[in-house]
Amino acid sequence: MSSLLTVLSVNTCMTILYGVGVTVTNKLPSVTTRLLFSDSHPNLFNGGGHIRQHKVTINPFDPGMALVFCVLMVFIPPLRFAVSAGYWKDPYIQYFVRQAKERKAPEINRGYYARVQGVHQLLRAFLRTTECNCQVINLGAGLDTTFWKLKDENLLPTKFFEVDFPAIVSRKLYHIKSKPPLSKPIMESHSGESLLIDAHSLDSSRYSIIGADLRNLKDLEERLKRFSLDTQLPTVLMAECVLVYMSPEQSSGLLKWVADTFPTAMFINYEQVNMGDRFGQIMIENLQRRQCHLSGVDACQSLESQMQRMLSSGWEAADAWNMVTVYGHLPQEDIQRIEKLEFLDEKELLDQLLLHYCISWATKDALHLGTPAVGSFFWILPKPPIGLVK
Ligand SMILES: C[S@@+](CC[C@H](N)C(=O)[O-])C[C@H]1O[C@@H](n2cnc3c(N)ncnc32)[C@H](O)[C@@H]1O
Repeated sequence: MSSLLTVLSVNTCMTILYGVGVTVTNKLPSVTTRLLFSDSHPNLFNGGGHIRQHKVTINPFDPGMALVFCVLMVFIPPLRFAVSAGYWKDPYIQYFVRQAKERKAPEINRGYYARVQGVHQLLRAFLRTTECNCQVINLGAGLDTTFWKLKDENLLPTKFFEVDFPAIVSRKLYHIKSKPPLSKPIMESHSGESLLIDAHSLDSSRYSIIGADLRNLKDLEERLKRFSLDTQLPTVLMAECVLVYMSPEQSSGLLKWVADTFPTAMFINYEQVNMGDRFGQIMIENLQRRQCHLSGVDACQSLESQMQRMLSSGWEAADAWNMVTVYGHLPQEDIQRIEKLEFLDEKELLDQLLLHYCISWATKDALHLGTPAVGSFFWILPKPPIGLVK
């Protein structure tokens, strides 16, 4: 257990400089970020608008701002580290995040690898099933780079939406605007005359990013529709480590809104599970110490509770696998490759970590597309042991 505490704990007093600038001093974190101000300038990529330094002091009691801190400090740097250590390829993450100076433990890197591969396998299955004639909505996308990777793979959906808090969106827009490897693919896939961009949103033909609160569903729907959301098109929604930051009522509300709004859809959720045991409690405490408060942890008690909340929100079918199962079913040649990257001292610790995260997914299939439903997790041949149909 002592090594577990070493891996999961962090000193909240330390000063960390990260990206454009995140500083934590005297326990009161503040984020210096560059915000875009354009007042709907039609062609910001060509020099319109201006950038201004903006300092935001994070009140740890404001869940939205504390989350921004949490994303920038806790979640993104390990992703960047795992990429640079060779676990998977992501040529775009370097434009959003500076290289992490600290090494991350091998079990953490393998955990991130399993998550990225697992979620992306499901997403790509949906894209192939629909021949990309579909929408992707990444809820709480953070600094995710999936849009750019899909473009490189020639797997862009009809439209790719991202939603996150305005402060995160501003930061992402700063990087997009100032770095051609990020802005060029958006321009290349854009077919209209001018694209719309302001401080908290961007709308192009194939990619949109929206600053909004996922707990305010009326506002969310209105903004998505303003950016040409088509509710009749098959739609896959992703939420990676996002629902756990909302109360169970709020996340069920979101799941219900999706199920009611899209007749043909898939929801992919990655987050914690088995949070009621001792290991789960230590994870919660350590995240809390880093300003990451998990208001939705009550919905993360078991694989069954993860599936049940989807079914009771109106989905036709649902399934959930812990990450030990996912890891065991990923392509074995690649697993052998990544297991050679770093020596893993404690396999038991990796298993514990993987047991406390899961991918759950739910489907509605009005168009009878055969979207990856219960028992047909496409990369796996034996049927999963669990899986519920309404
Ligand atoms: C742990 S981060 C994960 C980011 C990204 N999904 C990833 O996997 O790299 C959680 C993200 O969800 C966003 N988020 C959480 N609650 C939200 C809400 N109510 N409205 C909008 N975004 C939210 C946070 O701002 C943050 O970017």
